[in-house]
Amino acid sequence: MAIRPLDGKFERIGFHTHIRGLGVRNGKAEFMADGMVGQVKAREAAYIVVQMIKKGKMAGRAILLAGPPGTGKTAIALAIAKELGKDVPFISLSGSEIYSTELKKTEILMRAIRRAIGVRIKEIREVIEGEVKKIEYKMSPHPYNPYQQIPESVTITLATDQEERRFSAGTDVAMAFLQQNIREGDIVLIDRETGRTTKLGRSKNAPKSFDIEGEVYIDPPKGPIIKEREFIYTLSLHDLDLSRARRGESVLSLFFGGEREEITNEIRQEVDEIVKKWIEEGRAEIIPGVLFIDEIHMLDIEAFAFLNRALESEMAPIIIFASNRGITKIRGTEIESPHGIPIDFLDRILIISTDPYTEKEIREILKLKIKEENIEIEDDAFEELVKLGVENSLRYSLILLGPLKEIAELNGNDKIKKEDVDRAAKLFLDYRKSAEIVKKYEKLFLV
Ligand SMILES: Nc1ncnc2c1ncn2[C@@H]1O[C@H](COP(=O)(O)OP(=O)(O)O)[C@@H](O)[C@H]1O
Ligand SMILES: [Mg+2]
Repeated sequence: MAIRPLDGKFERIGFHTHIRGLGVRNGKAEFMADGMVGQVKAREAAYIVVQMIKKGKMAGRAILLAGPPGTGKTAIALAIAKELGKDVPFISLSGSEIYSTELKKTEILMRAIRRAIGVRIKEIREVIEGEVKKIEYKMSPHPYNPYQQIPESVTITLATDQEERRFSAGTDVAMAFLQQNIREGDIVLIDRETGRTTKLGRSKNAPKSFDIEGEVYIDPPKGPIIKEREFIYTLSLHDLDLSRARRGESVLSLFFGGEREEITNEIRQEVDEIVKKWIEEGRAEIIPGVLFIDEIHMLDIEAFAFLNRALESEMAPIIIFASNRGITKIRGTEIESPHGIPIDFLDRILIISTDPYTEKEIREILKLKIKEENIEIEDDAFEELVKLGVENSLRYSLILLGPLKEIAELNGNDKIKKEDVDRAAKLFLDYRKSAEIVKKYEKLFLV
């Protein structure tokens, strides 16, 4: 059982839902695998990085994905996270997001870093697990509404292949049974101390229930009913900071506090100490996740200094940057440098470059996207879209898919036709074309 309140947001996640991994086997990238197409060199480099991360050899280093817009930098960062495993936090931040009126930029970076570090916690708990043989509720009138009956307690008969026992429990468990609609033949797990009740599924031996969709049938439990079980769940350091910061506060602060909660350095230190103790006791394990920072040129010199220190710390995530700039000014200075990154920082960075896509790659990526979004398109319309991608950019033809659905609908076509693509291309411009036009008329705009 895993509870995963990893609250990392991922911008435009829908944009990349087709990506399941890097699609690299034994160090070689297949042209199309795991939802990734082409960009072979970058994917193979990313694969090496994944191996290094898994062996703990990336400590104190960062990765930079450098390439033009729409060449799959975000896609590759996400694929790296997928390769690392489902419990590995992936947090995404855009360089411009650190400038906020409410929080200091170092605070925003600190939170992002702590969100990107997972703590896998192991806990042994005494549980009651068995197939429900009989449920008897004792109902009594509601204290405020005597016309309503509420369960005051419940007596449950549970069984495994070894034994059958009766348990009595209070209102909480009784309510949990009613709310989860637990019936005879279901298999339940109850935490002995807290009474937390989980329905695990329906016993394979129980009569089939046709009225409930998505019912999972599982083997009836074996062995004793009362036993110790290990629970593993992953929280981020930031989750732990938050819960520590909220300790002793009113319940209302849980609803109204939100992210504005003040997390002091003392709280973070306390959390670090607690986690270290757990690790020594073998109850927890650190899982460094991925912090993806896009638009790296938006970070200023202070932010880089902060990240530099963070990378030195013993609990650091894997930082992946993305940049589509060449030589540019380091923000907050007059100094120019590659990607706007300070030179001393560049020393820590492994750079992977992504190249503009070939026609074949554009075609396959478009095909993937069209299939994923259940879009119907005629062959010549598809060819036109590929052509637009080649002449402009992959990003352009991908972004046109949205308006294309609307246009086809307006034209009464249930499949996108070539005329729809022509119309979309007339109505919406690629950024290069729009920039050219603006440039051409700049003088006119200025007067
Ligand atoms: N190699 C690839 N294989 C499959 N899909 C890709 C690939 N490269 C990019 N995409 C898809 O194309 C779109 C643009 O790529 P993205 O990763 O956002 O580019 P960038 O971050 O470099 O601007 C996204 O929907 C992405 O999932
Ligand atoms: Mg991107």
